[in-house]
Amino acid sequence: MTAGRFYLTTPLYYVNAKPHLGHAYTTIVADCLSRARRQRGEEVFLLTGTDEHGEKIAQAASAAGLSPQAFVDQISGQFKALWNLLGVSYDHFIRTTDASHTRGVQEALKRLQAQGSLRKGTYSFWYCVPCETSWTAGDFADPAKKVCPACQRPAGEVTEEDFFLNLEAHRPWLRSHIEAHPEFIRPEQRRNEVLALLAKPLPELCLTRPKERVPWGIEVPFSASHVAYVWFDALMNYLTALDWPGGGKFQELWRQTGAIHLIGKDILRHHALYWPIILHALGEEPPRTILAHGWWLIQGEKISKSKGNIVDPQAVVETFGLDGFRYFLLREVPLGEDGVFSEGALRARLNADLANDLGNLVYRTLTMLEKHTGARVPRGGLDPSVKSEILACEKNLWAAVARMAPDQALKELWVLINQANTRIERSQPWTLARQARREELEGLLYSLAETLRAIALLLWPFLPATAESIWGQLGLTSPLAQERLPAALACPIASGNPIAKGKPLFPRLE
Ligand code: ME8
Ligand code: MG
Repeated sequence: MTAGRFYLTTPLYYVNAKPHLGHAYTTIVADCLSRARRQRGEEVFLLTGTDEHGEKIAQAASAAGLSPQAFVDQISGQFKALWNLLGVSYDHFIRTTDASHTRGVQEALKRLQAQGSLRKGTYSFWYCVPCETSWTAGDFADPAKKVCPACQRPAGEVTEEDFFLNLEAHRPWLRSHIEAHPEFIRPEQRRNEVLALLAKPLPELCLTRPKERVPWGIEVPFSASHVAYVWFDALMNYLTALDWPGGGKFQELWRQTGAIHLIGKDILRHHALYWPIILHALGEEPPRTILAHGWWLIQGEKISKSKGNIVDPQAVVETFGLDGFRYFLLREVPLGEDGVFSEGALRARLNADLANDLGNLVYRTLTMLEKHTGARVPRGGLDPSVKSEILACEKNLWAAVARMAPDQALKELWVLINQANTRIERSQPWTLARQARREELEGLLYSLAETLRAIALLLWPFLPATAESIWGQLGLTSPLAQERLPAALACPIASGNPIAKGKPLFPRLE
């Protein structure tokens, strides 16, 4: 990857129903990692969007009594609105119904056909509509019961004439690519799963659907009776968003930088098997990294639109605040592992970390500045030991961001927060005040103000609004997002700067 550039994608979410907590999770993680990179001066392209074709969506539209186009316009708008509500700083929102995307998908199909990569044939397979995935008889655990191996719902048998891509021909290449690039599929467990799939021959991948059966799709340029398979259509977005096949953005971001696909583990096979092979067949480079996170569960089950056990992110934000929601998602589980969502867990996490640790630190520091130094930053300099705590925190936090481990990054930040809390308890500013030890008191408060400034800077990618609030309370007016550590320490907070204490950031939740 070219230093200083970052191309990160989320999945394109299906618009069969409104977004839920699972979609919010992936997108908030992507936003956080992107903000952290931007803050360090990197050029970031964060791509998200919606996957709008196929049977599943056509069925949902007809159930809603709308035309597919009217239906997808509506739901796609709800995704966009949610990202605005959640403070997601995406650079481009692609819809698979965009004309430029359609052209790209058709171009890819044309190329594959022209170079002889496609075989037309009659085929029988079992299809899971909720997963938009086909299976062969050998995939079922119980051959008598044809249930989808991914979601355990019944798969329907289909026999039809379609165009197929030979995956098997690319299997040796993909295996050696994965073996030679440990960062290609992450985490390790997912990499091993994909290698296990690659240990045996791969069936062909059907890239089309008869228009008669699935009318809602992108027309296949060389066969008027077919549309593109929705997964082929959707995966291509990662290229079409960069104006593939031409275009400087494609050169810069795909060829020179390398894409990082953040996905849930539910769509690992599509991203780690089908997609690299499609790219290889097209003569394009594979993405740099496919990073699959785990699932949010409720009562042991994956939160899922098609299961209907969803958690509405907007409702969580209304009750717990945007930054409370972001914090819980980013901090609660290591990226890659499953997490259990419950209001009890959320409340416990927010009380312990946000109300107690961070909220108290900010509130009591600002209260002391109000009381003892006339609501101004006192004279003083940054205590060298505090400075080294800040520098160590910045270094460790950034290393965690670079490993794409937001939970660990936040743990590192909380080390600094708790060091500051401990310092207050150890130095007993109330005693210093009583004994009129002004210089010591001012020195302590000065270093605490500087620590809060560092905390605001480091916190910004995770909880932007809270970071801005701390910044404002310290009386800082420069744009926070354009400053970064360690450079910011060279221009310390000015003595005499008027502070503006606010209400407690995170009231305790009962
Ligand atoms: O699969 N926990 O779209 P989709 C964590 N259109 N993340 C979850 C989740 C959960 N319970 N539920 C969903 C599709 N997600 C295709 C993708 S990409 C070219 C096409 C997140 O609407 C997670 O990122 O079913 C998962 O991979 C994605 O939403 C699936 O969204
Ligand atoms: Mg899904």
